[in-house]
Amino acid sequence: MNVYEAIKTRRSIRSYEDRPVEEDKLHRILEAARLAPSASNLQEWRFVVVRDAHIRKKLMEAAKGQRFVGEASVVIACCAKTDNHVMSCGQLCYPIDVAIAIEHMVLKAVEEGLGTCWIGAFYEQQVKDILEIPNDIRVVELLTLGYPAKPYPTHKDRLSLGEIVMHERWRQ
Ligand SMILES: Cc1cc2nc3c(=O)[nH]c(=O)nc-3n(C[C@H](O)[C@H](O)[C@H](O)COP(=O)(O)O)c2cc1C
Repeated sequence: MNVYEAIKTRRSIRSYEDRPVEEDKLHRILEAARLAPSASNLQEWRFVVVRDAHIRKKLMEAAKGQRFVGEASVVIACCAKTDNHVMSCGQLCYPIDVAIAIEHMVLKAVEEGLGTCWIGAFYEQQVKDILEIPNDIRVVELLTLGYPAKPYPTHKDRLSLGEIVMHERWRQ
C-alpha cells in the first residue's frame, strides 16, 4: 500500500473487534510517530500506550462515554512535554507537532490493517488522573487503535478542491 492509498482508505473507526494488536505492529506504528517532523526538531510528543481493559474503560468515561474508546484494544494518550514554544508565525508548536505524529500513526495503522479514531472529546484532567500524568504535561488527543469490526466505509464527505484552494492570492 502506498501513502496515497492509505490516505484514501483511512476513515475514523468507531467499532472494533475484540482482538489484541500484535506488539510488532504497535511498535511500527509508534516508530512512525517517532519519525515525524517537528518544529526545531523539538519532539515534544510523549505517548502513553494503554492496553489494560480496566484503564481503557476509565478512559472511555473520561472521553464522555464514547463506547468504542473502551472497545479498541489499544488507546494511546498523545501528550506533550512542552515549554509552550511559539514559532515566529505565532503558532504554538506542540499541538501541531503532536498532531503530525498522530497522523503518521493513523496512516501506518491503515497499512497494518488496523483502524484508528482521533479523540478530542475528553476531559484532560480526568485522563491525567487516570494515567498519572504530571500536571505540566498536556494531553493533546487520545487515539484508539484496533482491528475494525467492519470494512472501512468508502464515502468521504469533503469540500471540493475548488472550495478550499486558491491560486496566487486569497479570493473571496
Ligand atoms: C482533532 C480531531 C478530534 C476528533 N475527535 C473525535 C472524537 O472525540 N470522537 C469521534 O468519534 N471522532 C473524533 N474525530 C473524528 C472526526 O469526527 C472525523 O475525522 C471526521 O468526521 C471525518 O471523518 P473520517 O475521519 O471518517 O474521514 C476527531 C478528529 C480529529 C482530527
